[in-house]
Amino acid sequence: MIDFKKMQTTECLLDKKAYFSENLLEDPHFLKATEGKSLVLVTDETVASLYPLFLKYDSITFPAGEKHKTRKTKETIENALLKKGAGRETVLIAFGGGVVTDLVGFVAATYMRGIPYLSVPTTLLGMVDASIGGKTGVNVKEGKNLIGATHLPQALFIDFSFLKTLPEKELLSGTAEVIKHGLIAKKSLLRETSLEKMVRESYTIKSDIVEKDLKESGERRILNFGHTIGHALEGIEEYAITHGEAVAIGMVVESFLSYKLGTLKIEDFETVYQLIRERGFPLKISHKVTVERMKKWMKCDKKSENGVPRFVTLSALGKVERHGGAYCTTVPKPLIDETLGWMIDALSS
Ligand SMILES: NC(=O)c1ccc[n+]([C@@H]2O[C@H](COP(=O)([O-])OP(=O)(O)OC[C@H]3O[C@@H](n4cnc5c(N)ncnc54)[C@H](O)[C@@H]3O)[C@@H](O)[C@H]2O)c1
Repeated sequence: MIDFKKMQTTECLLDKKAYFSENLLEDPHFLKATEGKSLVLVTDETVASLYPLFLKYDSITFPAGEKHKTRKTKETIENALLKKGAGRETVLIAFGGGVVTDLVGFVAATYMRGIPYLSVPTTLLGMVDASIGGKTGVNVKEGKNLIGATHLPQALFIDFSFLKTLPEKELLSGTAEVIKHGLIAKKSLLRETSLEKMVRESYTIKSDIVEKDLKESGERRILNFGHTIGHALEGIEEYAITHGEAVAIGMVVESFLSYKLGTLKIEDFETVYQLIRERGFPLKISHKVTVERMKKWMKCDKKSENGVPRFVTLSALGKVERHGGAYCTTVPKPLIDETLGWMIDALSS
């Protein structure tokens, strides 16, 4: 009999293959992983223009930005692969930020019923979060990441030097997920300023959680702290704000909710709010954000059950509520209204 549980664990361990370097093209692990392979590198146009040396690989590029993380772009990449005659032996290199690794990972999950890929994140957000754990997918008009697959890369290569060209706004965006890791698992990370430590510690925290719950049936949900609100905001604002900016607001609001639910002390909520403000997140929402629109988007959140949204809540800084093993909870309607009303009053620009 096939032991699926064991298979899942083995597959999960593959994700432990993360290699850290300062010059990927000379990194012996990367050279070994790519040597003699039939490779196709997929990236966005911005990364392609910044790192032309990587175009020595057979390459496919697509326009940068969240609005291109769609089924249409996936199809364009697949058509380009078919045209090149890429087969089951092909190994894709997902080279870019979270948009690229999510999209290329999803292409790899379904092309020829699944081919291997190597993940090479080039943004802080990609290094601390998006490239870890094998979640891949695209956005649709109904919501973020609603179509996708779990497909782990063969290996993950983190080259810190890519961060040197990253604009401030994008660095800040990645910091949001680092703060999230601090809030859900390790308080000391909240004050960390070294980018390298942020990346290494985030990798350890996230991969440990993913290893326990690859398919997100329980504990992995804690990585979604701040995202029920955050994803809704991104959608309503039509991706005019970065993922990190949206998650930063989401963490403030979901900490407020944790306080209102009685699980988080008011001082801890105030610390979260102050910390996120001090880091320089805009914490502003536009007139497009209304209580009704938020509720509509949150219905489609992937933690929702029968259209009722569920939230990850904090019990202290660095600790989440278990909610009986579900790691998220529904919230009485009046409290949702109160929380969204508070958000709109406090953050409307
Ligand atoms: N799969 C997961 O577990 C997971 C987790 C968190 C976030 N995500 C997804 O990640 C995405 C956001 O990722 P992101 O913030 O990296 O966005 P992104 O991929 O759009 O990158 C942001 C911008 O930075 C540019 N860029 C990339 N690398 C650069 C570099 N080294 N120098 C200069 N510019 C560079 C890109 O071209 C883009 O314009 C979202 O779609 C989100 O849903 C996925």
